[in-house]
Amino acid sequence: MAIDAAAVTAHFWDAERPFASVAYTAAVILISWGMIKFWSAVLWRREMAKKFPCPPYGFLTGNLPQLNELGMFEYKFFREMHKQHGPIFGFFLPPFDFHLSVDRPELMQIVHKKATERPDSTYKVVNYLYKENILFQHGEWQKKLRRSYQEIINNTDVHSTLHRSAWEALEKEIPTWGKEPVDVHTRLEHLIYELMGSVLFGEKWSAHGKGDQIMKNHLYCAQNVMKWAFLPWSPTWDKDYCKYRDSRQGFWDDISEMLNARRDELKKGTAKIDPENKDVFTLLLGAKTEDGKPFYDHPTAVSTMMVFLNGSFDTTLNSTSWTLYWLAKHPHIQERLRKEITEHLPDLEKGCIPDRNTLMDLPFLDAVIRESMRRLPAAPINMRVNLDADWTIEHELVGKITIPKGVTVVLPYECAMNKEEIFGKDCPALNTFNPDRFMGTTDNVRECRRMWTPFGDHTRMCVGRNFALVEIRLFLARIISKFNVELEEPDKKVEPSYEAGINVISCPDDKTKPRFIFKPRA
Ligand code: HEM
Repeated sequence: MAIDAAAVTAHFWDAERPFASVAYTAAVILISWGMIKFWSAVLWRREMAKKFPCPPYGFLTGNLPQLNELGMFEYKFFREMHKQHGPIFGFFLPPFDFHLSVDRPELMQIVHKKATERPDSTYKVVNYLYKENILFQHGEWQKKLRRSYQEIINNTDVHSTLHRSAWEALEKEIPTWGKEPVDVHTRLEHLIYELMGSVLFGEKWSAHGKGDQIMKNHLYCAQNVMKWAFLPWSPTWDKDYCKYRDSRQGFWDDISEMLNARRDELKKGTAKIDPENKDVFTLLLGAKTEDGKPFYDHPTAVSTMMVFLNGSFDTTLNSTSWTLYWLAKHPHIQERLRKEITEHLPDLEKGCIPDRNTLMDLPFLDAVIRESMRRLPAAPINMRVNLDADWTIEHELVGKITIPKGVTVVLPYECAMNKEEIFGKDCPALNTFNPDRFMGTTDNVRECRRMWTPFGDHTRMCVGRNFALVEIRLFLARIISKFNVELEEPDKKVEPSYEAGINVISCPDDKTKPRFIFKPRA
């Protein structure tokens, strides 16, 4: 069929009404473009739903009804969907945003290796950390940034500072613990934030008096980000949104100001640098490129400090709280742990700071922490994507599957680490706490350790893993050496509440935190 060019031109162009013609033509182009996009999305959705097992979806609502019914983007949704659809299934956030989920640890290994980027949806849920930190970088720059992060966060002097500061903070906190029941989560919340402040920011934290304000803005953002995360616009007329926006900006401004002040001091040579007490902030500002220029520009430095603060706070807090909870629930395991601690660190119960390396080498303490983080990983859901190319998962469990580039793959670690095929028959039982699955060197134990992923895996695994473990080991060893730990109400229901991506310990019936009784050891 021939197109009559003159008729088309006449349709779109009227020399007597040039503005109206341009507006009309622009509108037709826009609407056509929108229609093409819309129908391509509809076809893409159909194709994905044919290729992968998916729950039935609504034309506009996608899988929102199922998400709503099963508690939104949480463990329960993934557990139920995997039960119905197998180890890999797809779902749609309304209306067309396609995600896959993989719940078998063996398949997650492949995903960790091949999908090494973070999707846009990760940014949406932590946008208060801004975009310049490692989470959202790609290619060579991301690799360089990661090497620098590792050098800073895993610096042995930083670990020594952390070990010593954590000890001092805890020694100030626990003398009152033997007197009445303690809400450990709330008590440790402030302690850990302060501790992170001083280890990450050095003496600047308290000297500027900014700590409380930063904590307030940070926690407000973390607790409220989800309300606004997926809106396609910024509702500037909404008071709550404005509070969120201002807290986010305040969080940035305070860290930026501290950073400028420290940079100035370093330039003028007036900075107090204690070689015995290295802080992350100073190491970060001192980092250089190969040609001797500062490695971090201002926005990258601010956003990096934000991601360190965010990564190191409620993860460690909840991992410690949950481990104390399991130990209180399982007194024989607590006793066995105490025996190991007193045998290797006999002076600890007298109040002498333990040797950091000895603490790192206690196998049962390691197994207890592993089991606690297996049972309830602090960060139970991760997301990965490959932005460069289509890629394949090939495994006897699913055959060969091609995943299109750009499709987000959800990794519900809590589902994976409850798989009895890997972790043992007792796994899915709610009340199981068996650190022995991580003790020894048998093939089974090695497999359990390899598939243990509360810190993620492969090249984008948590850079703060060893840093966090220095702190958690010290807290647990000291508390267990000093007290017998029990729950105030052993039968009270305790469950994780999923807040800002974290499994927070809570009592759902009265929305409190569990309280512990600490009986000083004779
Ligand atoms: C118990 C404590 C912690 C837990 C459970 C935890 C968990 C995680 C998880 C699951 C990831 C994603 C890994 C992946 O995709 O494979 C991650 C990434 C990350 N974590 Fe942690 N984390 C903890 C402590 C820390 C600490 C103490 C810091 C910093 C001081 C930190 C900084 C980071 C950073 C920067 C990333 C991004 C790494 C990258 O994108 O390459 N985390 N963490």
